[in-house]
Amino acid sequence: MSGPSILHYTYNKCCRACPTWKGKFYVFLLIVAFLLFFILFIHSVNPRRNNIHVSVGEEEGGPIEAELSSFPGMKLLVTNLSDQLQLGGHYIPTDCRPTQTIAVIVPYRDREVHLQLFLQHMHPFLQRQNVEYYIVVVEQEEGTPFNRALLFNIGFYKMNKLHDIDCFIFHDVDLLPLDDRIMYLCQDQPLHLSMLVDTLGDTLMYENLFGGVVALTPEMMEKVNGFPNMYFGWGGEDDDMSYRIRRHGYSIDRYSKEVSRYTMMRHGREENVDQGKLNRKLETGREKISEDGLNTLVFHMLEFQPLPLYTWILIRPNKSMLNGEIIPVKKVTDILE
Ligand code: UDP
Ligand code: BGC
Ligand code: MN
Repeated sequence: MSGPSILHYTYNKCCRACPTWKGKFYVFLLIVAFLLFFILFIHSVNPRRNNIHVSVGEEEGGPIEAELSSFPGMKLLVTNLSDQLQLGGHYIPTDCRPTQTIAVIVPYRDREVHLQLFLQHMHPFLQRQNVEYYIVVVEQEEGTPFNRALLFNIGFYKMNKLHDIDCFIFHDVDLLPLDDRIMYLCQDQPLHLSMLVDTLGDTLMYENLFGGVVALTPEMMEKVNGFPNMYFGWGGEDDDMSYRIRRHGYSIDRYSKEVSRYTMMRHGREENVDQGKLNRKLETGREKISEDGLNTLVFHMLEFQPLPLYTWILIRPNKSMLNGEIIPVKKVTDILE
């Protein structure tokens, strides 16, 4: 099992990932061919040629600010943002051919202000990266303790079934990236994107932390049997996932600390955390990777609606799960109501 590692990519915001197809391209074909030959030559003598992005420059992006004071409301947001989008919060770059289509899965309940500020920040952020994306908000109905990881599994399951998604970004609604060089793409290993969070002291709390914002390919998700379904209430589910991925021979990758910075919008702290109980849950969780996850996912789907700024999924957890019962299903079941 290999330990966590830090990626030291240099950044190119999109031009390598997204070649421009429009008219002028053909006029400069000859020049491009020459440049390509030149770049290939440089690459062949460059010891860092395995890095994913090349060249660092002013135009490649850098630190950005999060606008938390202006709060336009959902109506104005829709007016401002929906022209660029297809229904369901789906963006397709117009003059680019992206190499990956991503789905940003957001677990959600009762954080309306955060959701609006998230959409206001994330749509322009992702569009600057010239990536094809969907934003998917998976909401848990009131009445049961919040289950972040279950919502991730549901978002993954639905979007993976409906679309050809290359990369899933599992994303807290209250975290906003503070640097345009944080590429929302999957890499060779599972990525922990939110390494430094301002409200958590801008330090990585522990090496195996895998909370906040993470990126995995569908293949990685299938291999580790997704997130656990049984973590109702705050905490532990990300540690369980961290264990799953390391257990399956992956390591946790991160961008450098100069780049991988987020702000967390303020919210109340979880007060009644019983650390002993959480540890015990984690210990039993470790033995249940193959029987608690994507292969035993059951839920009631109350809504599935492509809205202008995001795809909205509203769910109710299955009652028997609340007693810690794992339902022995071989195939994922969504119980439509
Ligand atoms: N969340 C939510 N409503 C809740 C609890 C959690 O929408 O009542 C979602 C939201 O995306 C949030 C994430 O779950 O960012 C993680 O929860 P929280 O921010 O409370 O955890 P912490 O920041 O303390 O780890
Ligand atoms: C919890 C995690 C959480 C981390 C940072 C751990 O004790 O188990 O779920 O992400 O603390 O807050
Ligand atoms: Mn939070």
